[in-house]
Amino acid sequence: MRALHAPRLPTPCAPGRGFSVPPDTVIFVCTTCKREGDAPDAPRAGAALAAAVAGHGGEARVQFVNCLSNCARGPSAAIVRPGGWSYIFGRLELDGTPEALQIGASLLGGSEDGAMPWKGRPEVLKRNMIARIPPFDFIPKEATP
Ligand code: FES
Repeated sequence: MRALHAPRLPTPCAPGRGFSVPPDTVIFVCTTCKREGDAPDAPRAGAALAAAVAGHGGEARVQFVNCLSNCARGPSAAIVRPGGWSYIFGRLELDGTPEALQIGASLLGGSEDGAMPWKGRPEVLKRNMIARIPPFDFIPKEATP
């Protein structure tokens, strides 16, 4: 994988982390996701996840969204940054996910090539990745039809 945008250097270290999260890195959390098997009138699992992520207190900006079109595999969240790949995650549990999303945002936000590194990525962000979307200006080194 090769990025065609200007490399980004990690911002200064924060205590206990490799680097701070750049302010343009965002965690989107779907508030309307249901969990598979939930009754139609059950409280939305996505709302609980969104509240937990927002209340976690990490550095990344958290934004609520009504749907990420990953409804069958919710609860869902995404991590994005300008000039970088976008990552969508599904079937997220409350336990551990807020911290994992903050770590993922930190890794993506500080990445020099715009991709979230596999090394250091929390397990839930490996196991539960649904898709990744290239940055707008991405052109593969060797394009094949
Ligand atoms: S309702 Fe959450 S992804 Fe559609």
